[in-house]
Amino acid sequence: MLIIRPLDSVHNRAGFDCGTIPLNDFLYKTAAQHRDKGLSNTFVLTDNESSADILGFFTLSFLEVDVSVLPPDHARRLPKSSRLPAAKLARLAVDKRCQGKGYGSILLADAVKRIVATVKESGGIVGLFVDAKDDTVRRFYLNFGFIPLQDAPLSLFLPLKVLLTGIEMSL
Ligand SMILES: CC(C)(COP(=O)(O)OP(=O)(O)OC[C@H]1O[C@@H](n2cnc3c(N)ncnc32)[C@H](O)[C@@H]1OP(=O)(O)O)[C@@H](O)C(=O)NCCC(=O)NCCS
Repeated sequence: MLIIRPLDSVHNRAGFDCGTIPLNDFLYKTAAQHRDKGLSNTFVLTDNESSADILGFFTLSFLEVDVSVLPPDHARRLPKSSRLPAAKLARLAVDKRCQGKGYGSILLADAVKRIVATVKESGGIVGLFVDAKDDTVRRFYLNFGFIPLQDAPLSLFLPLKVLLTGIEMSL
């Protein structure tokens, strides 16, 4: 049974290859350091609880965004000239061997679930932000209802309201 849990030392990071070197390198060299420093948290997808083989991963962190980056119909409902708390999907990747099997969607849904739990328990955010690495990946996020930011089409966000009602997906 597929399982998603925090990255730890039992996982075989070096065996992961999503085809994008900066994402592989982040998992190999940076993800555990960032976790140890409290900067971000990485969660990995494996086949079962005892498997060390990483099928995919995502990384979450928090940031502040300027209200002016939001599309006007979202910005107008918020305090002007303010900086707002937000969550960030800092990385999302699936191993080349299993792309196109729905694992990216499963990881994204799990990321949303974790953010919603955090928001309900301990604080507010304006939404979940992500930077797509190119136009193809941007379309992946658009599928789930992500909205492009003002003047930055590769950067997108999922408003809090959508996070709370669940992302558009069919698993
Ligand atoms: C982008 C990525 C995370 C998607 O994960 P995946 O497991 O391959 O995607 P899924 O199988 O869950 O696909 C979900 C939906 O998105 C679509 N989709 C998948 N990859 C896509 C892409 N690159 N562009 C556009 N649509 C895409 C699928 O067709 C599917 O739609 P459907 O349900 O209507 O068939 C994965 O392909 C990947 O890791 N790529 C390399 C690393 C990368 O680019 N990461 C993103 C960094 S911003």
